[in-house]
Amino acid sequence: MSTTLPTIFCAIDTPDIDHAKNLINQIVPAGCGVKLGLEFFNSFGPDGIQDIIDSCNNPPIFLDLKYYDIPNTVAGAVRAASKLGVAYLNVHASGGLDMMKAAKDACAGDTKLLAVTILTSFDEPSIQAAGYQAGIQDRVVQLATLTQEAGLNGIVCSSHEIEAIRMACGNNFVLMVPGIRPAGSSADDQKRIMTPKEAIDKGATHLVIGRPITKADNPAQAAKDIIQTL
Ligand code: C5P
Repeated sequence: MSTTLPTIFCAIDTPDIDHAKNLINQIVPAGCGVKLGLEFFNSFGPDGIQDIIDSCNNPPIFLDLKYYDIPNTVAGAVRAASKLGVAYLNVHASGGLDMMKAAKDACAGDTKLLAVTILTSFDEPSIQAAGYQAGIQDRVVQLATLTQEAGLNGIVCSSHEIEAIRMACGNNFVLMVPGIRPAGSSADDQKRIMTPKEAIDKGATHLVIGRPITKADNPAQAAKDIIQTL
């Protein structure tokens, strides 16, 4: 599916707001959006997001805060966060159908809502220890289907689940995929990686890429080089 939003959302994982702004002002003109997560939000809050919007020429932002609570509380959080005018927000699909529907109803403006299925930090033993009987892949597809039933725009998933989710949910569904590494670059702490082109060819709509861009000597050039491969 096509979207006018950037294909790559660059993960800006830093507690230094000046460093964040400097990076954003390099990578957004190169064609990237920006992913800001819990580290940034817990350091700088909504004012920090607004500061980025104001000082970096209103970049497309994926605000990755992964809400999980009772429906009324998540709806309130989504209502407040979507007023910032970010491109994407997310919740945990395991919060259930009612929670996701309440979040969707509360999501204001053009903000799109995604759901996290199973965190990629889980493996089969740890997911069973957490009380889930189905294997990871089955559970991911089940949660992706529930997300679609709730009317959300898509999910965040690992590159290894793209094909199964596309089969279950069709083409009109956003798949935002982290754990991406250009050929030849360091895996860092990511275990199950895929190249940008492989992930897009399998059916990802967006890629979350952090350190291969932010730690490069020239982040803008690194972003352009990746975009060129797609
Ligand atoms: O630097 P790197 O490309 O590994 O950054 C990936 C980003 O995506 C980080 O912000 C990480 O927290 C996030 N993420 C992930 N795996 C998930 C969900 C989010 O790596 N399953």
